[in-house]
Amino acid sequence: MHHAQHALIYTCIFSCLSSAQRLTRFPPYFNFGAATSAYQIEGAWNVSGKGVSIWDTAVHDTPQRIADGSSGDDAAQSYYRWEEDIAIIRQMRLNFYRFSLSWTRLFPQGTLNSLNPDGVRYYDQLINGLLAAGIEPMVTIFHWDVPQRLQDMGGWTNDLIVDYYTEYANRVFQLFGDRVRLWVTINEPGQYCQFGYDNLNAPFINSSALGTYQCGHNVLRAHGRAYRLYDNYYRSSQNGRLGIVCDTTWYEPSDNSSQFDREAADRALQFLFGWFINPIYSPEGDYPAAMRARVDYVSQQQGFPESRLPSFTPEELLMIRGAYDFMGVNHYSTFLARPDNQAIARFPSLNNDVDIQQFVDPSWELTEGQTYFAVVPWGIRRLLNWIADTYGRDIEIFITENGYDGFRNESLQDSRRVNYLNSYLREVLNAINDGVRVTAYTFWALMDNFEWVNGYNSRFGLYRIDYDDPTGNRTRIPKRSAMVYQNIIVTRQINESFVPDEFAFDSA
Ligand code: NOJ
Repeated sequence: MHHAQHALIYTCIFSCLSSAQRLTRFPPYFNFGAATSAYQIEGAWNVSGKGVSIWDTAVHDTPQRIADGSSGDDAAQSYYRWEEDIAIIRQMRLNFYRFSLSWTRLFPQGTLNSLNPDGVRYYDQLINGLLAAGIEPMVTIFHWDVPQRLQDMGGWTNDLIVDYYTEYANRVFQLFGDRVRLWVTINEPGQYCQFGYDNLNAPFINSSALGTYQCGHNVLRAHGRAYRLYDNYYRSSQNGRLGIVCDTTWYEPSDNSSQFDREAADRALQFLFGWFINPIYSPEGDYPAAMRARVDYVSQQQGFPESRLPSFTPEELLMIRGAYDFMGVNHYSTFLARPDNQAIARFPSLNNDVDIQQFVDPSWELTEGQTYFAVVPWGIRRLLNWIADTYGRDIEIFITENGYDGFRNESLQDSRRVNYLNSYLREVLNAINDGVRVTAYTFWALMDNFEWVNGYNSRFGLYRIDYDDPTGNRTRIPKRSAMVYQNIIVTRQINESFVPDEFAFDSA
């Protein structure tokens, strides 16, 4: 081979692919999965020793907070129906399944003195069943369901949670790490700390931009501690990979020619995503400079003796920086952004700190469920490129959630979800062709489940569950999107005109 030719091939593989070589199929290393979380699917909330979490408390004490007054008491009954879950995962030919551990099913009080053997048995059989079916488990250690006993001590705003979480993670590595290779430490801390302390999600506390930042601070410390613990005690024998999962909307400047709009879009990304990503994934570590400057300034104007955004010690900064093997990104939708130019409020709020207006373009299609996400497929491509440009092209990205919010009685012919899946995946493939190192895609969700304060009014599943069935039966029925996803996985390409053969799917 000529030298020049060799050099050309080299650049194409290691920088980005030239247009002639753009992939039309997902590369062999790329994996497809689907996701759920414990509280949203398991049910059996008080069975066989399980303790109470903040979501159990919320749905029982304040059912009026949930749109349809429902709860996750039974949910999809995955505590009993895990074999059916494995069967539908197989049916779609998924490579991996992302699920979470219920902290209070394993440790009813949240602390290590209280291991519940039934919880260990449940996750053992799920993990073993997945592996026997050739499906890789991706396990989220914490997905929002804080043990009530720990919440009674302040939950994520009490520094002690860092120790409690790390001990919990340690036991989880001991119990399941011989079989689990993919670990997510914490799911969507941005949503959890933002909405949990803006009184919109459990633990339903009014402490905007105070509790909010303290929560985030302890999440980052806990993530760093768990990662270093794994490094020191488990990595050499268990050989797994760890990351955190952060969510972000893509923010597009409302008017791209306006510097103020561009800054507003960037500020939104820094505050809501960079808040967690910058300390872990940026070469310099710590909170984003724009966030630090703004919260310091607003705090001072409000008369606080210190910034409301806490500071890390030099040791903590080093512990947290670089604490990753991959980056987990949850992405659903896009907003336009411009500055809000709010006066500094007397009392702190996250909204006042961020100071942006976010809205959708009226021409964008909205989803039909209760979240009213807009369907903006190009947003995921821009986001992925922005992440690679901002934090480095060598970081391996997993899309750990992406999905379409349907309405309560949507039909099995979920053509809008099919369109969402096809068009978002098309843009993920474009991002791969742009040279972004994204190696996994996870659809939210495997089946219809308890969508937090929306209850069962929002439907995200590839499989339908009829929560209005008077017999309480929770049979999983494939929607058209499940069949389309299977076809994408089997052919490794997107075919917008594919028409599923339902009979063939059933017997697959
Ligand atoms: C984010 C969360 O991780 C998950 O729990 C939720 O159901 C989905 N996105 C959809 O809103």
